[in-house]
Amino acid sequence: MTLKELGQQLLDRVDPRVIAATERALKAIPFVRAKLDEEYGGMLDGLAHSMRPYAGQVPTYAELPSQGRDRADILKEMESIAATETPRWRDGFLSGAVYNGDAGHVDFMNKVYALTSQVNPLHSDVWPSATKYEAEIVSMVADMLGAGPNNRQAGPGEQICGAVSSGGTESILLAMKSYRDRARAERGERSPELVVPSTAHAAFDKAAHFFRIKLKRVPVGKDFLADVKAMKAAVTKHTVVLVASAPGFPYGLVDPVEELAAFAKKRGLGFHVDACLGGFVLPWARQLGAPVPPFDFSVPGVTSMSVDTHKYGYAAKGTSVVLYRGHGLRSYQYYTLTDWPGGLYFSPTLAGSRPGALSAAAWAAMVSMGKEGYLEATRKILATTEQMKTGVRAVPELELIGEAVFMVAFRSKSLDVYRVLDELGKRGWNLNGLHRPAAVHLCVTLRHTQEGVAERFVNDLKAAVEEVKSKPATGGGMAPVYGMAGTMPLKGFVGDFLKKYLDLLYKV
Ligand SMILES: Cc1ncc(COP(=O)(O)O)c(C=O)c1O
Repeated sequence: MTLKELGQQLLDRVDPRVIAATERALKAIPFVRAKLDEEYGGMLDGLAHSMRPYAGQVPTYAELPSQGRDRADILKEMESIAATETPRWRDGFLSGAVYNGDAGHVDFMNKVYALTSQVNPLHSDVWPSATKYEAEIVSMVADMLGAGPNNRQAGPGEQICGAVSSGGTESILLAMKSYRDRARAERGERSPELVVPSTAHAAFDKAAHFFRIKLKRVPVGKDFLADVKAMKAAVTKHTVVLVASAPGFPYGLVDPVEELAAFAKKRGLGFHVDACLGGFVLPWARQLGAPVPPFDFSVPGVTSMSVDTHKYGYAAKGTSVVLYRGHGLRSYQYYTLTDWPGGLYFSPTLAGSRPGALSAAAWAAMVSMGKEGYLEATRKILATTEQMKTGVRAVPELELIGEAVFMVAFRSKSLDVYRVLDELGKRGWNLNGLHRPAAVHLCVTLRHTQEGVAERFVNDLKAAVEEVKSKPATGGGMAPVYGMAGTMPLKGFVGDFLKKYLDLLYKV
């Protein structure tokens, strides 16, 4: 263990409240404040420029144009911007992000959107088509995820039911709110707690933050999977729900759902499986012979799931599905208001008005793919993942993290893996840098299954590693920023920096 790692471990043991208080005290010192502002300012100036590549090339609008612009002219300008941005995702340089992207498929999605752009599911009486699309999306996803052939006839207590949301984060927020509200209503719980493995998505922190649930993040085991013993030990009389991922975002690994679900069931706790990323891949991967452990509603004790249609469901961006075992739990998600001057108000999810066109597109994507389509897409993704993993294994300086089905995550014991990430960036790649441990991942999509993309990745990876080995660090690029963010004990400072970055996004 290095001195730095030892220091980090010691700091990890310090109560986060002590660290937060230290930060507040430091920031209150004018000299420290001024120095921080100067440092943030310097780092952000460089970023601000790269965030505005169109400045000076197309008009900038800080206020409405006094007269509307010609539609053809606007379209021409937007087409030229799209043409600049499209090749990177189209040609398979991104991790995740665009999961299908085939020109014919995108064109089909766009046609569906054009037909339905005015649809608002809030007005189900005006657009009963939206109701049909959403009900069928939920039913098809439930069927894919172990609801069983008799689910439509099942009673409200057992039926796997759900709702369409705007994305994985909203599905997770909704499920967590449902557990909180159920515990409050049915057992008077005023201090609800949520137990998640450290690799669970940030959306669980967000849910805990928004809904005032205490989050207990339990370190994963040496195999990077949820540590069942430690998760059990983290449960208290206030726990309302446990979480597992199928798979988790960082390494693409499926947590031990069966063991955790059995425990949750025995204790009468909720158990959520986050299959936002893998819900549309794992069932088909299993059929193709990949080692996929049980993870869905076929496992007794799984009480809710999140599954993203806008990822491997190949829908347009903006939809996901949250599923529950039984209508009772789902009803805690709903919102109703009966004494409002605006009339009776009720909505199933966080939003009021919603883009029905996105639900229509999700439905159309699913129906056009069919079981055969998803199976075939998964077959290609699994083959490409294997090809890429073989490439990583051939580089002695790199080490694969686990055996993920459709993710390639690697770290290095001898090199700064963030510099490898930077070098890949110079070759056009846009992959994700991970923390604790420092690692990089590529989430394999249909874009990578195109001819030559996996070979290009392997060659660029080898070249990137050679470059890092042969040249000393210059301190440039994102590597130092990643390194700092991953190891810095005073996370509040990093958080402040990120908020300033968000400010920049809204600067005209
Ligand atoms: C496992 C997992 N859960 C949840 C999410 C959140 O999804 P979204 O970005 O659609 O909100 C992601 C996103 O990548 C994910 O990988």
